Amino acid sequence: VDAKTSALIELHEAAGKLFHHVLVNTELGQPALAYLHERGLTDATIDAFNLGFAPQNRLLKRFFDERQVDYQTLRHSGLFIENQEGELRDRFVDRIMYPIRNEGGQTVAFSGRLLAKADDQPKYLNSPETDLFNKRKVLFNFDQARGAIRKVGDVILFEGFMDVMSATQAGVTNGVASMGTSLTEEQIYALSRVTQQLYVCYDGDVPGQKATDRALTNIREQSSLKLGVITMPEGLDPDEYRQKYGEEKLKAALLTARETPVAFSMRYLRSQYDVNTDAGRLDYIEAVLAILATMTSPVEQDVYLTQLANDYQLDKTSLKQQLAMVKPTVAPPKQQPARRQVEPPVVTQHR
Ligand code: UTP
Ligand code: MN
Ligand code: MN
Ligand code: MN
Ligand code: MN
Repeated sequence: VDAKTSALIELHEAAGKLFHHVLVNTELGQPALAYLHERGLTDATIDAFNLGFAPQNRLLKRFFDERQVDYQTLRHSGLFIENQEGELRDRFVDRIMYPIRNEGGQTVAFSGRLLAKADDQPKYLNSPETDLFNKRKVLFNFDQARGAIRKVGDVILFEGFMDVMSATQAGVTNGVASMGTSLTEEQIYALSRVTQQLYVCYDGDVPGQKATDRALTNIREQSSLKLGVITMPEGLDPDEYRQKYGEEKLKAALLTARETPVAFSMRYLRSQYDVNTDAGRLDYIEAVLAILATMTSPVEQDVYLTQLANDYQLDKTSLKQQLAMVKPTVAPPKQQPARRQVEPPVVTQHR
């Protein structure tokens, strides 16, 4: 590690300590600390994730100036915004600070959350790409979760910081977050190196479920990971579920509410078609059969055929006949019949 890199890491570690101190020990941090407590985070969790608060008074710039940190290091850290005159100002103002660490456990970036909604600002503001921080590679909490991932043999992939922390507080410590709903090839690769089983646990809302569908496709294309899906009910995200039902219930949901990717796809597709009309129902069944046709196990196929037959009071024999006619490749969206309401999913080999 060269001198520049270690200076940047040192800077981030110092900033993390300062933000944490402000949050837990000072008046300035009181509203943020109260907010986190209100959301049900314990002091142990706040400590374990080294959460902090960046106040409104150019604290960080003053802090590093007093310690005579050189200008170029500050400039390249991503923690400041530079104006036309080259002056640096704190990037994170009035935000709860979540340190983002690399695989080695070193703080390489921050994400800052507003306490209250503001129309003109993003809820979470992240460090920009720097020499330390490659957004495509980092997974939130991967350093702390790795041991548990190896021990339990699987990883749970969440959308957000709060979901990982909620799971951890509930005793489920093998969770990481993609920090949003787009999962990169680099992140998939990093996970595939430590485990063979991945559960996608994105938010239960519409964007989260859509992102789940996309993530399953990407992971399948880019790795040989075995997949499962965990979905919180009522459109909740895991953190909201904990707030509403408690830690024990969250833990139980994370450990037991696990679907196969095919079961998820069948459920997800159902929301994409109007199954109350004959045409919509037929399209739905066609889409499900296209997925089942890619399955290599006849027993597995049979399980879902039975389900499909039961769900729509269909004759299983005719479903089987129809399945035999479906080619396990799906035509590109443009060639699909016009009555389809949405683009069909990209169907690849299911495991
Ligand atoms: P969500 O919108 O689901 O936020 O985005 P959340 O995790 O539930 O956050 P809380 O509970 O309101 O605090 C999921 C993740 O997407 C990233 C963050 O990593 C967030 O945790 N995100 C979201 C951003 O980077 N920027 C944003 O403005 C919003
Ligand atoms: Mn502490
Ligand atoms: Mn979300
Ligand atoms: Mn969420
Ligand atoms: Mn949330």
